[in-house]
Amino acid sequence: MNEFPKRRMRRLRRTPALRKLVRETELAPAHLIQPLFVVEDDRAAGPIAAMPGVARLTLDGLPARIEQIRAAGVPAVLLFGIPATKSPAADAARRADGIVPRAVRACRDAADDLAIITDVCVCSYTDHGHCGVVTDGAVDNDASLGILAEMAVSHARAGADLVAPSAMMDGQVAALRGALDAAGFAETGILSYAVKYASSFYGPFREAADSTPGFGDRRAYQMDPANAREALAEAELDVAEGADALMVKPALPYLDVVAAVRQRFPQVPLAAYQVSGEYAMIAAAAANGWLDERLAALEALTAIRRAGADWIITYYADRVAGWRAA
Ligand code: PBG
Repeated sequence: MNEFPKRRMRRLRRTPALRKLVRETELAPAHLIQPLFVVEDDRAAGPIAAMPGVARLTLDGLPARIEQIRAAGVPAVLLFGIPATKSPAADAARRADGIVPRAVRACRDAADDLAIITDVCVCSYTDHGHCGVVTDGAVDNDASLGILAEMAVSHARAGADLVAPSAMMDGQVAALRGALDAAGFAETGILSYAVKYASSFYGPFREAADSTPGFGDRRAYQMDPANAREALAEAELDVAEGADALMVKPALPYLDVVAAVRQRFPQVPLAAYQVSGEYAMIAAAAANGWLDERLAALEALTAIRRAGADWIITYYADRVAGWRAA
């Protein structure tokens, strides 16, 4: 048998060059997607307390930020809009001149070679903060589909490459695909938030996007963190409905789910979202001197890739290039 002392695992760990040769997982800016928050009301722009280093941008501030992201070699952005007005039926989400369509055009003007992905959900646009319209005190699945579809078409019309439905309404991928095709946007793709858990790790995002539910929580539509097999059912349905790529969210606490979806759907590109709370945990510990932010972030992102994610959506995206060189 080829056992100790004949076989010594440490031989291939001895130098940086040997470690490079045996490294199984690659983390590069090309795998990353940068989320951006864009406000309609300029007065709402500025730093996000719970996400040190992340800010809400004005439309005017977008080009300079886009330039940083391009320079870092990150190929894609994921846009979230924060409208000036909220209403029960999320009217601001459906306008052709809404904040996201305008932000898409601003991104296009700033950098034509960047992939533009838009989040399709109404939680920042409804006065009650839920991800769909509310009927009799409950989020109404089927009544929400048309609104989400209209929103997606407005993003496609503005030039989005991919729309990313995150509302966790059943049938949303099919609704979007149908509406996009009918409106002449057969080439616009769908990155489905297929596996989205009802997670406490979205806390800082809700401050950023001003989308905290005014009553109740999202557990009647987002997934129970205890479930993994159900994730495969969600993914299967979304592939059948026409999703071009799948997402698991959050990322690090759900690496088993990332690996399972990767294994079950080897032909479908898979994204994982390192969400606001995952970011905030590292940033807060680093601010206290308890963690090395660069090393902790690179380790978490590498682990997410190792579990099987092709793409990672991360607030650290544009910082990774500099960090890898360091
Ligand atoms: C919209 C949406 C959320 C996130 C992405 N899209 C919040 C939520 O579902 O409550 C969270 C992203 C993050 O925490 O970074 N529904």
